[in-house]
Amino acid sequence: MRCREIGPGFVAQVTDLDLTRPVTALQYGQLNRWLDQYLVLVMPRQALTESQQIDFSALFGPPSERSRPQDQRVEQSPFAHLIGVVTNVRDNGQPIGSLPDGEMWFHHDGCFIERPYRATVLRAVQVTSTGGETLFVDMRQVYESLPAALRAATVGRSAVHVFDYRTLNQQPDPAMDLSRVRHAVHPAVIQHPRSGAHALYVNPLCTVRFIGMPVDESQALLHELTTAILQSSACYRHRWDVDDLVIWDNWASCHARTDFPSGEVRMLRRSIVSGQPLEPALSQ
Ligand code: SIN
Repeated sequence: MRCREIGPGFVAQVTDLDLTRPVTALQYGQLNRWLDQYLVLVMPRQALTESQQIDFSALFGPPSERSRPQDQRVEQSPFAHLIGVVTNVRDNGQPIGSLPDGEMWFHHDGCFIERPYRATVLRAVQVTSTGGETLFVDMRQVYESLPAALRAATVGRSAVHVFDYRTLNQQPDPAMDLSRVRHAVHPAVIQHPRSGAHALYVNPLCTVRFIGMPVDESQALLHELTTAILQSSACYRHRWDVDDLVIWDNWASCHARTDFPSGEVRMLRRSIVSGQPLEPALSQ
């Protein structure tokens, strides 16, 4: 198994590993250490079955049940409760998977639940000729790069995050009625549960507002932090090839997607590693 950094301090490509075969205890430990160290691991040419993808996810923790298993699936599968399909394919006009179309803003998967997911795994089944890239940002590096005053304004705060993916590129309304949407409150700067690193934990797609702050101040702070995410040099753009397998840490990275042609099929299989409650960073 070999590992080589391919993104700015937080993305590594792992090769010389055939995930259709059993993973040894040594490889298991090493893969977990690399995920904690880097945050994003890219593994090309992994033509996994759904069951093999679940086995791979399980190396990093219990696979999480999908939040919307009622989504239509491309085909019947005994693993439909554990593997979702991210695709723009439609049947009678209805998407057969989730997150169907176009650009998607930066977000952390699962920030709207009490126990945000440790990791997400995507495997590319069909890719578009252009666009549809997934962008990743290292939120440890974003936090480190914040000016001292902005860091001080953020540490110790908590923010509300919602799940409202009907629009994938719009900030949630800070005045929204939270009783109508899935939402959760988390520290704005977390201490990573495994590595202890501090990471910014807000994002433009799901973060609604900071707790205990007037709405205009909260919006201004969110705007400054979002700008820091968008301008971060700790950003990696993944151009998908079929059978690329990518796993990313959802606690200390966030991700987005670029637009892609609606007339072409994009399909990825998605599995999720369960998480735990997030603790605040206690110091700057
Ligand atoms: C996701 O946010 O989980 C999907 C990302 C993608 O479609 O590239």
